Amino acid sequence: MRDLPIVRSVADLRASTRDLRLAGKSIGLVPTMGALHDGHIALVHRAKDENDLVIATIFVNPTQFGPNEDLKAYPRDESGDAMKLAGAGCDLLFAPGVAEMYPAGFATSVAVAGLTDHLCGVSRPHHFGGVATIVTKLLLQAGPTRAYFGEKDFQQLQVIKRLARDLDIPAQIVGVATIREADGLALSSRNRYLSADDRATAAALPRILRETAIALAAGSAVAPILDAAKQRLVEAGITRLDYLDLCDEANLQPLGAAIPGSRLFVAAFVGKTRLIDNWPVL
Ligand code: PAF
Repeated sequence: MRDLPIVRSVADLRASTRDLRLAGKSIGLVPTMGALHDGHIALVHRAKDENDLVIATIFVNPTQFGPNEDLKAYPRDESGDAMKLAGAGCDLLFAPGVAEMYPAGFATSVAVAGLTDHLCGVSRPHHFGGVATIVTKLLLQAGPTRAYFGEKDFQQLQVIKRLARDLDIPAQIVGVATIREADGLALSSRNRYLSADDRATAAALPRILRETAIALAAGSAVAPILDAAKQRLVEAGITRLDYLDLCDEANLQPLGAAIPGSRLFVAAFVGKTRLIDNWPVL
């Protein structure tokens, strides 16, 4: 298999794409933090189908981790990731260091109000500011035609769509369906933290989400159904539930009744690992 070209500076990234851009070629961007799994590879395949050139990025972004989160422990395997990307047909990897992305004196941040007030924004108050800032930078640095993000991080996807719209960034933000294990668990780089027992427990998340979504779609009252689902999650062995909410998928506001465009969102600790998932209702 050919080696994947890797660039580490914004100047080299721009130089590598300049001629293609001038020739009117389309660029698909797949931003990641590495530790790639089949969910990321699905983003690369989609980008490959829809663009002339695919650029992936790997940057474990420190500003989106809270003080007690797993920044230091976050899995890193650049050479393994580069092989997976090359195998999926990616054309270029941008893998900058922290000093390239946040040089001394860096003082700007992007905040998306409203969409970040609920769900993960409550227990991870700095997270979406870090995501919005780094994704804005990546979109401006790579200048893609389209950029691809997984629906597993549905709130993140909506935040990124909004910032691109609000800041007039001329890239189409494309959401790609969650890739799941055979038992329904959404693929995530953090799944590798799960012990065998935790992994068995984690399968309760998609199962209970799906069954709850079916009950809500059938018209059951929201509060008692959510209470019952929370109870079932605890009985299944979830260590701590962060939230289980029914929200409007466009604005992420909590809903008291299932309506078209409503979606269930969950965040829960299984052992020490925080997992998130979501499921469409109507
Ligand atoms: O979803 C991720 O991997 C990250 O949040 C992203 C979008 C690459 C920004 O660091």
